[in-house]
Amino acid sequence: MPIKIAPSLLASDFARLGEEVRAVDAAGADWIHIDVMDGHFVPNLTVGPAVVKALRPFSRKPFDVHLMVAPVDPMIEPFVEAGADIVTVHAEAGPHLDRSLHLVRALGAKAGVSLNPATPLSAIEQVLDIVDLVLIMSVNPGFGGQEFIPASLDKIARLRRMLGTRAVEIEVDGGVGPGNARTLAAAGTTVLVAGSAVFRTPDYAANIAALR
Ligand code: DX5
Ligand code: ZN
Repeated sequence: MPIKIAPSLLASDFARLGEEVRAVDAAGADWIHIDVMDGHFVPNLTVGPAVVKALRPFSRKPFDVHLMVAPVDPMIEPFVEAGADIVTVHAEAGPHLDRSLHLVRALGAKAGVSLNPATPLSAIEQVLDIVDLVLIMSVNPGFGGQEFIPASLDKIARLRRMLGTRAVEIEVDGGVGPGNARTLAAAGTTVLVAGSAVFRTPDYAANIAALR
């Protein structure tokens, strides 16, 4: 699978979100990564389904919605209705991961599961056949601009082996930049999420090209 780049809007200018989505789309983004934080599962607050809905007309690229919320089940349908193409839930967000993933798929979206840095791969062993994507958090979620946690690399390589021939995307999120993109891809990553590495300078096309 060729590598996909998913700019994280968390690092964009929140006063101009629509324009930022249009700009990264034009700059070559494959997916648009939207971080949803509830101030409870993670220590920060971002956007709800109304914002996702408002952004939908600004791009036709897949909206990759990363839900850092608990409880998560009541939030799945509102985000799918708002235009999320991929909905990723955290394995740590509740006791009924299987139910959450089935709910995402039943609503017609692609189902992703995410693991915090301290959560072992064994937490998702039983759901590998019902996911379209596994998101490995390479920072503790909540904020952009943090440093990549080195142990995430081996976790990705082990996940790659665990997935075998399954057509499941491996996404990495947190501290991703041109300095580690190649190593991450070699370990089996198929989707690179990048916030600061894309938005830190005005030439988004150059920043996305550098990652690719
Ligand atoms: C962190 C978010 C990330 C974040 C990554 O909780 O899930 O998507 O925006 O930011 P950078 O790329 O700056 O580490
Ligand atoms: Zn994210």
